[in-house]
Amino acid sequence: MPPDDRPSSPALTYGSYLQIDRLLDLQRPRSEGPEHDELLFIVIHQVYELWFKQLLHELDRAIALLRAGDAHRAQHTLRRILTILKVMVAQLDILETMTPLEFLAFRSRLEAASGFQSDQFRQVEFLLAMKSRAAIERFPEGSRARTALEDRWAQPTLWDAFVEYLAREGYAVPESARERDVTAAVVASPELQQVLVAIYRGDPKNSELCERLVDLDEGMQEWRYRHVKMVERTIGTKRGTGGSAGVEYLRTTLFQPVFPDLWEIRGRL
Ligand code: HEM
Repeated sequence: MPPDDRPSSPALTYGSYLQIDRLLDLQRPRSEGPEHDELLFIVIHQVYELWFKQLLHELDRAIALLRAGDAHRAQHTLRRILTILKVMVAQLDILETMTPLEFLAFRSRLEAASGFQSDQFRQVEFLLAMKSRAAIERFPEGSRARTALEDRWAQPTLWDAFVEYLAREGYAVPESARERDVTAAVVASPELQQVLVAIYRGDPKNSELCERLVDLDEGMQEWRYRHVKMVERTIGTKRGTGGSAGVEYLRTTLFQPVFPDLWEIRGRL
């Protein structure tokens, strides 16, 4: 098209491409004043939600690449996921600069709102084979959150894509692992562990892939641990705004591997 005939739309800018005006309009403190630290509290949660969005985008890709048998690119994607997770863990340091009293200055304004209600966090858990119907039913029928979780409920997890990939690589993966209920947590399988031990001993390419999955599992556990400690130093033994017992509840979520087989074999290597 000759330049003169071009439709007259404003030139793309940094601000219009990234929708900066809309983005900067999304932080709405509820406290009077408002309290100085409420902006940090809002910004950090919004940043986490953006990272959750990116994690889901990358986890979907890692699953698709494994299903296509492309272990090399799947590993590349897993490395990116792990780098994001490290940033997510490190960001808790910023929130820890907020003292208990600074948080108390606006905590009551949160009413019953809590990270417990983050559907994207639950979606990440679902992709890692930690699914729960209760997590879905918390959201109203027809909402974006509920639809997204319903879609992921029946979707094979990263573990299922990995197991299927190993079978296609020629490993004698037991039927029980290939045909497992994808809505359930992964149950450790001694037969599959034999396969994994053989991979660690004689297959450098696929043992590297296993290591990236262990990194991911450990990274999630690390985030949970750092979150609990941050919560403990900020609210002590108080109940959570989401209605749970707070730290006591959060402690029950610690040290639970999502890929138990990859941990169980380590004493045998
Ligand atoms: C001062 C800061 C924070 C405090 C005091 C806090 C406190 C809590 C508490 C007490 C719970 C348990 C559920 C409840 O009863 O509310 C919880 C859960 C949760 N929080 Fe936080 N939190 C903080 C910051 C964050 C941040 C920045 C995120 C990032 C998104 C986050 C994400 C979550 C998630 C995903 C859960 C659910 C964990 C699970 O059920 O396994 N929290 N939080």
